[in-house]
Amino acid sequence: MIKIAPSILAADPLCLGRDAERAAEAGCDWIHVDVMDAHFVPNLAYTPETVRHLKKIVSVPLDVHLMMDHPETLLDAFLQAGADIVTIHAEISADISAVLERIHAAGAAAGIALKPGTPAETVLPYFKKADMILAMTVEPGFGGQKLDDRVLDKIRKLRKMGYTGEIEADGGIREDNLQALADCGLTVAVMGTALFRSEDMAASIMRLHAMGRK
Ligand code: DX5
Ligand code: ZN
Repeated sequence: MIKIAPSILAADPLCLGRDAERAAEAGCDWIHVDVMDAHFVPNLAYTPETVRHLKKIVSVPLDVHLMMDHPETLLDAFLQAGADIVTIHAEISADISAVLERIHAAGAAAGIALKPGTPAETVLPYFKKADMILAMTVEPGFGGQKLDDRVLDKIRKLRKMGYTGEIEADGGIREDNLQALADCGLTVAVMGTALFRSEDMAASIMRLHAMGRK
């Protein structure tokens, strides 16, 4: 079964708690919290305070995606706020292994993300340290974009290279393209627009849960 992680970037920013509760009640597995620093990506989103408040109202794991040049500066704040999974980008200048170790030391799961144009080989050195690889299926920074299907090959390649942890995709995922991602070895799907615009989120999540590797 593919885990479904609604991205609150697509939620109503004035009713974030209500939308997060709605997603949890609809049966999602994680809540994806995008964090943007207006430098690594040309947008700004969410803070450790958002995570702290969400942690109080939903019981599903919070999957925090740090689209930041220097995630190490706010890492403790996100971890203390209750982030369950923290993902940093492979393209940053920090010591990736050291940041992944700090995430593990705080008891959270550690993820490493690749922009669509970053090759799978980039994360080979971290296969044993990362609980999850996030293969971005859009250029990070905004929701509502079209999935870049070049990334399907990257997901297949990560499996062929022997990665056995979670592989998450994020950006432009909808009911009509998730099966192809699942067939490549995906285990977690981040969905923002497709879920928060759905007429019946619970029914959508049920259909999505039925997809798996064929
Ligand atoms: C984009 C974010 C994604 C985005 C997904 O940088 O990382 O999580 O919110 O949204 P949709 O599913 O609308 O493309
Ligand atoms: Zn994201």
